[in-house]
Amino acid sequence: MRTQIVDHPLAAALLTTMRDARTSNPTFRAALRDLTALLVYEAMREAPVETFPITTPVAAAEGTRLAAPPLLVPVLRAGLGMVETAESLVPDARIGFVGLARDEKTHQPTPYMESLPDDLSDTPVIVLDPMLATGGSMVYTLDLLATRNARDITVLCVVAAPEGIAALRKSGHPIRLVTASVDRGLNSEAFIVPGLGDAGDRQFGPR
Ligand code: PRP
Repeated sequence: MRTQIVDHPLAAALLTTMRDARTSNPTFRAALRDLTALLVYEAMREAPVETFPITTPVAAAEGTRLAAPPLLVPVLRAGLGMVETAESLVPDARIGFVGLARDEKTHQPTPYMESLPDDLSDTPVIVLDPMLATGGSMVYTLDLLATRNARDITVLCVVAAPEGIAALRKSGHPIRLVTASVDRGLNSEAFIVPGLGDAGDRQFGPR
C-alpha cells in the first residue's frame, strides 16, 4: 500500500477552511469540492494515456486521452460531496455507489446501499470519502470491490488517522491512498483529532 500526502499551499488553505468549526455548510461543501480537484489531480498523475489524431484550427496534432477511464465510488453520504468535481475532471468516468453509516457506539459500518458494476477487473477504481477514521468503512468498501475483481484501486480522502491507515494496510488490499493530511489520531468516540468533525453532517446536516 502506498500513501501519498498532497502537500500544497492551496490544499492546506482549503483544508483549514474545512477544519474550522465556524465554517458554514455551504462554504464547507465548496472547500471540499475544490480540494477534491487537487486530490484527483494528484491521483491521476500516473494514469496511462493513449494518443489519437486530432486537427486544431491550424494543423494536424496528436491528442491524448485516458487509456482506461476509472469508476468513481463515493462512499455515502460524505463522499457525495467529492463526486461532482471528480466526474467533471474525468468526464468519461462511470460512477458506482456504496452507502454506509457508522454505528455511533460500536463504530462499525452498517451498509444500506450498494450499486457497483459486476466486473471491475479492467477498470481502475477511485474511492471517494473525506474521512478515514478507524478504517472500518473503507475496508468494507475495499472488500466489496475485491469481490468484483477490482485490481487497481486508489482511495482519496481529506483527513486520515494513522489507525485507519494501519487498518487498510492490515486488510492486505494493494491500494494507493491519496490524502490531504494524516492527523494525530482518534479520540474515545473514534473521531479524527484534530480532524474536521463529521464530514457528512457538515455538508448535509445531522442524520
Ligand atoms: C463517516 C465518514 C466515513 C466513515 C469513517 O461516515 O464519511 O465514511 O465515517 O469512519 P471509519 O473509518 O471509522 O469507518 P458516517 O458513517 O458518519 O456517515 P455519513 O457519511 O453519512 O455522515
